[in-house]
Amino acid sequence: SKKHRLTAKLRNQDNRISWEEEQMKKSVIKADADEIKVKDSDQYEFVFDTEAMIDFTDDTTDILEPGEDSKLAEALEEQINKMKTIQETRKSLPVYQYREDLLSSIRQHQVLIVVGETGSGKTTQLPQFLVEDGYTNDGKCVVCTQPRRVAATSVAARVADEMDVFLGKEVGYNIRFDDRTTPDRTILKYMTDGMLLREFLNDPQLSSYSAIMIDEAHERTLSTDILLGLLRGILQERKDLRLIISSATMNATKFSKFFFNCPIFNVPGRRFPVDIHYTLQPEGNYLNAAITTVFQIHTTQRLPGDILVFLTGQEEIESMQTKLVEILSKLDGTKFSDLMVVPIYANLPQEHQAKIFEPTPKNCRKVVLATNIAETSLTINGIKYVIDPGFVKEQSYSGGISKLVTVPCSRASVDQRAGRAGRLGPGKCFRLFTKWSYFNELEKVPKPEILRTKLNQVVLLLLSLGINDLLHFPMLDKPKTTQLSEALDNLYAIGALNSKGTITKVGQVMCDFPCEPEYAKVIYSSVFEENCKGVLSQIVTIISMLQESNSIFIPGLNREEKTKLFGSMMQSSDHMLYLWIYEQWEENGFSQKWCRDFKLQHKTMKRVLSIRQQLWKYCVKLHFISKDNQSSSNALENTSPAMLEAKIIKCFISGFPTNVARLSNQGYTNIKHGLSVTVHPSSVIFTRLKNEGKPMKFILYQSLMLTSKEFIRDCITFDKYEWLTETMPHLYK
Ligand code: CDP
Ligand code: MG
Repeated sequence: SKKHRLTAKLRNQDNRISWEEEQMKKSVIKADADEIKVKDSDQYEFVFDTEAMIDFTDDTTDILEPGEDSKLAEALEEQINKMKTIQETRKSLPVYQYREDLLSSIRQHQVLIVVGETGSGKTTQLPQFLVEDGYTNDGKCVVCTQPRRVAATSVAARVADEMDVFLGKEVGYNIRFDDRTTPDRTILKYMTDGMLLREFLNDPQLSSYSAIMIDEAHERTLSTDILLGLLRGILQERKDLRLIISSATMNATKFSKFFFNCPIFNVPGRRFPVDIHYTLQPEGNYLNAAITTVFQIHTTQRLPGDILVFLTGQEEIESMQTKLVEILSKLDGTKFSDLMVVPIYANLPQEHQAKIFEPTPKNCRKVVLATNIAETSLTINGIKYVIDPGFVKEQSYSGGISKLVTVPCSRASVDQRAGRAGRLGPGKCFRLFTKWSYFNELEKVPKPEILRTKLNQVVLLLLSLGINDLLHFPMLDKPKTTQLSEALDNLYAIGALNSKGTITKVGQVMCDFPCEPEYAKVIYSSVFEENCKGVLSQIVTIISMLQESNSIFIPGLNREEKTKLFGSMMQSSDHMLYLWIYEQWEENGFSQKWCRDFKLQHKTMKRVLSIRQQLWKYCVKLHFISKDNQSSSNALENTSPAMLEAKIIKCFISGFPTNVARLSNQGYTNIKHGLSVTVHPSSVIFTRLKNEGKPMKFILYQSLMLTSKEFIRDCITFDKYEWLTETMPHLYK
């Protein structure tokens, strides 16, 4: 049957039917052909994907005589050629040679560790091998987890291409707030590790899966570690289940020991030598140093050979991109027009992600600006030069303070990064730090996330799975007892646990909602807490906006422009501005033009809309709101804007009682642990503090990030200490 599967297809531009549009009932999607089959050598069969069509009435298939439409025939030809190259590429990957060995090892052993060079085909091929070997024949699924959203989505798209099926049908992905799977049709899923973890809540045996691949396990994310612990526990009862753990070399034996000394399968990869260059002195400003290095490479090294630069986050990437483009525009066009800058980071809208995989045009050099997502989880072909400042942004948690910090990478990481230059042929890596620093200052391996993050959410999850003995739950690295008790304290503080440590009704709600427990508490309060109820709709809107707050405004929009656009709203707070923006957008029919006028990213706003709809669905499911009275029932009659804001603030206090800073002579300091914090210039509050004589006494913030200062972002202010005591009496009395 495989041969008779479609040999070619056409699809809409971004590789999927835009269901957001469908949901907004804005316009009717045209009934274009989504798939074309070659029936015989001279007949094409067009297949329409009926589910995606809104008013498609015709028969689902159509036969076209050859020559009837030359344009379609051309497109078809192109598709066939693309398929051919894809199949050839598959066969050329290192894992392909070990297909039979791998499959027989998996048949023999319930758990198998697979170790292989990045780019050898583990992520894209192994799950396909399993599908081909019949693991999905009895209606079960194969799933492969990824620590990162971008990796899950882009790999799923690639594999859908390779298997020549629609993304979201046979092959799909499931990441938070974006589920592209079809329950009775999807056989191969790529998921973030966190999403698979959540599935334990509904199905503690994960009975819908026949094989689970935990990919990038060496990254040791919190979710991956917990997943491994839980999976270890169900192996006994799920004898049919196969577990594959794929990892870079560094942790392989540790995983094997954890899984009762299971075998390690090594896939020998090819790797060319990489020349390592260090700086002689430490770099004061690594962004500038990186830019200089890009131009040095570009002017002295022959083509082809693309450059990969490792940066720490979206902001840094955008700033470097802007600078590069600025310099390029000032330089003599003929010489430098051939430099093509492409960014890749976790929040990058999907439609831009594909760009990094496109082959570089002739006579052109691609410069990929990436976070450490390009370290192991994504393979970009054509890279010959790596520029590595040697930093990474990490979650850190200590003394009750949770923040993002930029820290030096481990030696294992920078070696991995250097390796990215040696896939195509011999490469070069420019490290923007000293050789001394490499040997004396860098840690050997990265610190597992479980040892440096807040454990609230996983502790709640484990408790709700009935795992009460947290100390003896099997884990690769055990968190400290203090970390666990801190998590229990925090959960008690926001009401998820009672004084006996049992999960409360609120706690259950926190488990059910697909967002952090703190946000779930905010939502809960907006419905049930006496002094703040009645603002559910507004709260759900604000929380949806907060999920995407990094990319709401078009990049580079400055404060003056914002003030011009949003006027008096710039005197309120981030939360209230977000609410205003969403409500205005809704009033303007969710229009793209409105977003353009207000310099907002329409794509982001559409995602916000979709997140909001999903959160709302949960509110309906949990009976926070009645089904038939969805839109306005929540609106408060006769409420002044001030009262509305007060209620909103109190809801947020109930979820984030310790994210509050108080004004003192030294500026704002956190009310619980005394850390002094600075409002980030991108915040509305920053503008307000500049313009206003009398600053508000308290600021509640959503995130804390350490760069040059301890910056707080997404802030809302208030003056009344009573709001803290009345909302959180056990903390603030
Ligand atoms: O997982 P591993 O690092 O072993 O390799 P992989 O991600 O399965 O990638 C195998 C090949 O597929 C590489 O040559 C990638 O360049 C290619 N690939 C691609 O072209 N587009 C993607 N979205 C993902 C992978
Ligand atoms: Mg991989």
